[in-house]
Amino acid sequence: MSYARITAIGSYAPERLADNAYFESIVETSDEWIQSRTGIKKRYFSAENEYTSDLCVAAAKNLAEGYGKDLSDVDMILVASVTPDQIMPSIATQVQFKLGLENTGALDVNAACAGFGYGMVLAQGLIAAGSHKKILVIGGETLSKVTDYSDRTTCVLFGDAAGAVLIEPSDTQCFFSNITGAEGSGGQDLYMTSKHDCINGETVNANGMIHQNGRRVFKWAVTTMPVKIREMLAKANMDIKDIDWLIPHSANMRILEVIANNLEFPMERVLESIVNFGNTSSATIPMALHQGVKNGQVKKGDKMVLMGFGGGLAYAGVVLQWDL
Ligand code: UT7
Repeated sequence: MSYARITAIGSYAPERLADNAYFESIVETSDEWIQSRTGIKKRYFSAENEYTSDLCVAAAKNLAEGYGKDLSDVDMILVASVTPDQIMPSIATQVQFKLGLENTGALDVNAACAGFGYGMVLAQGLIAAGSHKKILVIGGETLSKVTDYSDRTTCVLFGDAAGAVLIEPSDTQCFFSNITGAEGSGGQDLYMTSKHDCINGETVNANGMIHQNGRRVFKWAVTTMPVKIREMLAKANMDIKDIDWLIPHSANMRILEVIANNLEFPMERVLESIVNFGNTSSATIPMALHQGVKNGQVKKGDKMVLMGFGGGLAYAGVVLQWDL
């Protein structure tokens, strides 16, 4: 069994700024409603000809700058996304090609906002098994391309971004435990389909856009995530008091507040990316973590909980130590 650690991190947000005033101009909403109900101030949208693989490549290039070493021996690329450039080929193979990485496997992870958490669990497992030595885990989304701009209940929420980490073998233990789970019975509460009009017996809107029953997903997230975070910490023989940073999926500032409050964890030690980037699904966790690293909040030795949750409904998290 090999230990694993994060050895580099990078992120990227596209250029096109969409502030709340933009949404006031296209739907019946207000900056006040958006900020008070979600925490979001702004988000960024990809250009028309800019796809998820492009954002993922930009995040990986940003990671490479900080890493300072060659990425040519990356032996696995895992890309978490619900907005692939197309169904086939995978985003991961496009990233492999665009980065010119000759010696790597490439696989997409389809687990919506839990995707980055699942990617971390898989990467740590492959390193522990000894089969892989350098894994790029990327969460990337161009949600602006699948957003219904006539639906004010969803369109104000989403943004585009990508975040990447590199995972390699370590002499010391930096991953302490993980948790993965699913409640497929809630599939109809958050979906995007163009092929089927029925999920779990409920008729759904098959127009290729994201649809969400916000209240149901909100309730599920705030009741389930604290329980699962406690379970994950117990597996690591840890208590929330041992944790320096909590990084739940940035779906909504109010969700982060309820989770932190339930865990009796201070909000000042919650890292988020919702305020400045919106909900970027699989990218929210690496975006939040990278911001915390760049602004000097996260320090070597800090312990943290990363917890992704969303469409599926699915969730995946890890408890780890920052060792950079
Ligand atoms: O990332 C994957 C996981 N996703 C989540 O975790 C998202 C979970 N859900 C949420 O974050 C929240 O449910 C939302 C932000 C989506 C919605 O917030 P809410 O506080 O649950 O609002 P609501 O759906 O209960 O709607 C409250 C009111 C409604 O009006 P009435 O029926 O009270 O008259 C909505 O029509 O707010 C109205 N509304 C809006 N008003 C202005 C909904 N969207 C908007 C809007 N602007 N954009």
